[in-house]
Amino acid sequence: MLELNGPTLPRRSRRAAVLLATGAAVTAALLGVSSVQANAVPTTAAATTATATAGKTAARAAAAPDISVANVKAHLNQLQSIANANGGNRAHGRSGYKASIDYVKGKLDAAGFTTSVQQFTSNGSTGYNLIADWPGGDADHVIFAGAHLDSVSRGAGINDNGSGSAGILEVALTVAKEGYKPGKHLRFAWWGAEELGLVGSQNYVRQLPAAERSKIDAYLNFDMIGSPNPGYFVYDDDPQLEGVFKDYFATKNIATEIETEGDGRSDHAPFKNAGVRVGGLFSGADYTKTADQAAKWGGTAGQPFDRCYHASCDTTANINDTALDNNSDAIAHAVWTLSSGSTTPPTGKVFESKSQVDIPDAGAAVESSITVGGVQGNAPGALKATVDIRHTYRGDLVVDLVGPSGKAYRLKNSSSNDSAADVTETYTVNASAETANGTWKLRVQDVAAQDSGHIASWKLTF
Ligand code: TRP
Ligand code: ZN
Ligand code: CA
Repeated sequence: MLELNGPTLPRRSRRAAVLLATGAAVTAALLGVSSVQANAVPTTAAATTATATAGKTAARAAAAPDISVANVKAHLNQLQSIANANGGNRAHGRSGYKASIDYVKGKLDAAGFTTSVQQFTSNGSTGYNLIADWPGGDADHVIFAGAHLDSVSRGAGINDNGSGSAGILEVALTVAKEGYKPGKHLRFAWWGAEELGLVGSQNYVRQLPAAERSKIDAYLNFDMIGSPNPGYFVYDDDPQLEGVFKDYFATKNIATEIETEGDGRSDHAPFKNAGVRVGGLFSGADYTKTADQAAKWGGTAGQPFDRCYHASCDTTANINDTALDNNSDAIAHAVWTLSSGSTTPPTGKVFESKSQVDIPDAGAAVESSITVGGVQGNAPGALKATVDIRHTYRGDLVVDLVGPSGKAYRLKNSSSNDSAADVTETYTVNASAETANGTWKLRVQDVAAQDSGHIASWKLTF
C-alpha cells in the first residue's frame, strides 16, 4: 500500500491535475468511451497527408552494409566485463554464461527481434540457447546464422567465441538499424555448451520438427573469427555457401583456404547431420601457421593462429581487429546475399491524425485511427510513429501502436515514478511484417488514478 501510494502523494501538480482532469474523465466515463467508440469518432478531422519526397521507388536488391568493427569490439568489451564480474569465465553452468545471454538478448529485444531462450540440461547444469527471429521474410526459406556463446571455464573466451557471437550480433543489429526487408526469413542463434560437445546446437536440432528443419535454406556458423595470428578459412561443406564467402574475400583481395582444422568441431555439425546445408568462417585455433600462410596473410609463421586457444589469455587483447572486421563484413555479405532481399527506401510518406481522443483516468484503453493507403508492400522495418499525447502524469500511460493485422507494438510502458507531463516522442517500430496499407491505431490506456489527458495528434512516417 505504502509503495502504491508513494508516487501519488499529493504533490502540488498532482493535486491540480486531479481537478483539471475531472471534467474530461467524468465525461468520458459517462459516455462510456471505450476503445471501439473512440475509434469510431469520425476521422474527418484527421488530416491525412501524403508527401512523397522520394517519389515512388521500386524495391531493389540491397548491397550489404559495412559492419562497424568498433561496435563488434564494444560487444567483446561487454563480454570481457561479464567474465571479469563472474569468476573470469562465461562457461556453461556458470553465472557468466547466463549474463552473456542476457546481454545479447537485451540488445536484440531493443532492436525489434523476436527472441526466445531454449533451456536444456548438460552436466547437471541448465544451459541456454538464444534464438532471434527478424520479423518478415518468407517463413518457408530461412537463412540462419549461429555462434556459440559459451567459453571454456579457463578464461573469458573472447576469440573463442566472443568473436563469432559479437559478429553475428552486430550483423543482426545492423539488419534492424537498416530496416532491412529480406526476401527470406532471417534467424540468428547463440548456442550454449558448445565446449561440452555441441550440446546446445544438438538440442536445438533434435527438438526442431522435420518440417521446420527443411525450411532452413542455409545454416552459417561462426566460431573464432578474430584470431590474433589469423587465417581466412571458409567451410567447404556446401559449394554455393562456400562460394558466397569466397566471392566476398575475392573482392577484398584476401586469399582464403578451405577450413580443415577438425571437421565437425562446431555447431554446424548437428545441422549438417540433419541434412541442412551449412557454411561458415574460421580464423584458426591451435594449428600452426605455415610460412606460405604467413606470406599471404601476414602474421607469424611457426606460431598458432590462436596461441590463447582455450587458455586464460583469451581476452580482448587476443583479437586481431582486421580479421574481426573482414569476417564481420563477410557475414553481412552472406546474410544479405543469401536472403536476396530488397530494401524499400523510406518513402517519406506521412499520415497524420489530429482527432482529439480523451484518455479517461484509470479507464479503458482508447484508440485513434489512421488509414494508410497508396504505400506499396509492407511497412518499413524502421517505421516512425510520432505521438503527441497531453497528460498531467505520463507515467500513468501505456501506449501501443496497433498494425493492420491487429498486432500491438508496445511503444511505452507505465511507470509509477515518471511524473512528467505529456508524451511527445518519435518511436521506431519494426513493422516489416505488416502490410503498409490499412488501418493503424494508436492505443493508449491510463492505468493509474488521479491524472488524465488526451491524444492531441499522432502520425506515421513510412
Ligand atoms: N569449436 C572449437 C572450440 O570451440 C574451435 C575449433 C577448432 C573450430 N577447430 C575448428 C571451429 C574448426 C570451427 C571449425 O573449441
Ligand atoms: Zn569455439
Ligand atoms: Ca491516471
